[in-house]
Amino acid sequence: MRKLGKIYTTTRTIEGAGVSLRRGFSPQDSAIFDPFLLFDDFSNTEVGAYEAGFPTHPHRGIETVTYILKGTVEHCDSIGNKGKIGDGDVQWMTAGSGIMHEEMPIETEEGIQGFQLWVNLPRVHKMTGPRYQEIRKADIPCIQEGEKDVCVIAGSYQGTSGPVRDLLVPVTYLSVTVPPYTLFSLPTLRDDTYFIYVLEGRVSVRDDRTELWIGAGEIGLLTNDFDMACSGGKDGAQFLVIGGTPLREPVVSHGPIVMNTEEEIKTAMEDLKNGVFINS
Ligand code: CO
Repeated sequence: MRKLGKIYTTTRTIEGAGVSLRRGFSPQDSAIFDPFLLFDDFSNTEVGAYEAGFPTHPHRGIETVTYILKGTVEHCDSIGNKGKIGDGDVQWMTAGSGIMHEEMPIETEEGIQGFQLWVNLPRVHKMTGPRYQEIRKADIPCIQEGEKDVCVIAGSYQGTSGPVRDLLVPVTYLSVTVPPYTLFSLPTLRDDTYFIYVLEGRVSVRDDRTELWIGAGEIGLLTNDFDMACSGGKDGAQFLVIGGTPLREPVVSHGPIVMNTEEEIKTAMEDLKNGVFINS
C-alpha cells in the first residue's frame, strides 16, 4: 500500500491582480510532484479578497485545470472561448504553444470554492495547438456507495471513466466525500505520483503500524507504490485525489510559461514582445 510520504501545508499567497489564495506547491517543487507543477486553492469568503481575479495573462507549455465547487468564474481566451464555470464544473485548458486568457471570480455572499492544478506537458506536446474542454457538473459521473461519493473528473474509478478526453498526460482527478471512518481505496500505478488534498475533515493513511493524518488545507503526498487506501476521520472527509505519470524532463519556468530550456523561455518572452505568442 502507498504510505503517506510527506505533508505539505498550503501557504497564503497573492496572485493575479490581488487574489488571496493558498498555494500547495509551485513549479519549484516539480521534481517532487512531476507531472504536476502547481496546486492552488483559491477558496475564499472574504469580501474584496478575490474579485480582482486573474486578468489577461499568457500560458505556454502546460495545462491548467480549474475545478469550481462553489461560486462562479467568468473567463475568456484567445481561442474564442468565453463563458462562466461554476458549482461543480471543470475547465481543462491545454495551453500548448500559447494561449491568453482571463479568469475572473464573481464576488458573492457565499464566496468561492475552487482549485487550480497545472499539469506539465511533455516536450513533444509543449507546442501543440491550444485547446479547451469545458466539463459541466452534470457530465461528471459520481459513484455512490451509501454516503460515499466519488466523482470522476479524469482517469477512472471502479470502471467508470471521467469525461476529459484525449489527455496528453495520463491524469486521475477524483473528488471524494466519505462518511466517518469509511475507507476509500484506489488501484494505482507503481511509479505514478499521487497526492490527496483535504477540503474538509481529516483523512488517515495507514502504515503497517501507524496512522498518519492529513488535515483540511493540507496536501498529503503518497509514496510510490501500489494501491492507495485511506479513510475519513470522525467527521468524515471531503478530498481530492490527484495522480499522474511523471514526465522526468527538465523544467524551466517563468511564471505561467513552463518549458524545458532557458532558450525556450527566452523565445516565449520574445514572442510575447513581438506579438506572435498566439500563433493558432
Ligand atoms: Co491562467
